[in-house]
Amino acid sequence: QEISNIDQKEIVAKKISKLVQDSQTIGIGSGSTAFLALKHIAQKVKEEQLTIKVIPTSYEIELACTYLGLTLTTLQQERPDWYFDGADEVDVDNNLIKGRGGAMFREKLLLMSSNKNYIIVDKSKMVTHLGEKFKVPIEVIPEAINYVRHSLVKMDIVTMDLRMATKKDGPVITENGNFILDVKFKKIERTFEKDIKNIVGVIASGLFQNYDISIITP
Ligand code: A5P
Repeated sequence: QEISNIDQKEIVAKKISKLVQDSQTIGIGSGSTAFLALKHIAQKVKEEQLTIKVIPTSYEIELACTYLGLTLTTLQQERPDWYFDGADEVDVDNNLIKGRGGAMFREKLLLMSSNKNYIIVDKSKMVTHLGEKFKVPIEVIPEAINYVRHSLVKMDIVTMDLRMATKKDGPVITENGNFILDVKFKKIERTFEKDIKNIVGVIASGLFQNYDISIITP
């Protein structure tokens, strides 16, 4: 019998919580899978009376950390022992699309800053080629939006949408005060993360290509 996606998320969330040890500093990803993992981590910390510090990747997960009574720290003060996060897509070479929640800049920063990285996903996230289900989110400084749009058109795109807010008029503004373009490419090449990052005005994209990460599935 097929295990539902939500049950699969619960399984990987429990698995990752087993890695927590006393005195660690942990980078916390965003999204629903990361949130479930955080709940299990908070429970373990309480039960085993551990002392850990956490560095969140978004306000969403920072609020959850605070609510669950976990001690926050920053990248200025600590280097994370490890970082975990969800993903929107994982291909056969462990390349990722992330950033449905718009937090890809801090997610990438945490990943780069940590000694070890884990991506926890249910099986619906596994794809043969990146871009099968999700568009690539790209965080752009507002002033550069037209320049970035013109530069991306040259990369063979299918669609490109400025992500719009739902509870206010106008575009989504990220936690860094920027816009997000959601781009569907004809084919995502292996160099695209770097190619996109090279466009002046791009802060980060949701493409994670060739990183040293461990994928945890149910
Ligand atoms: C947040 O910006 C994202 O990168 C999430 O990690 C990703 O969207 C996965 O989210 P779920 O765990 O909710 O599927």
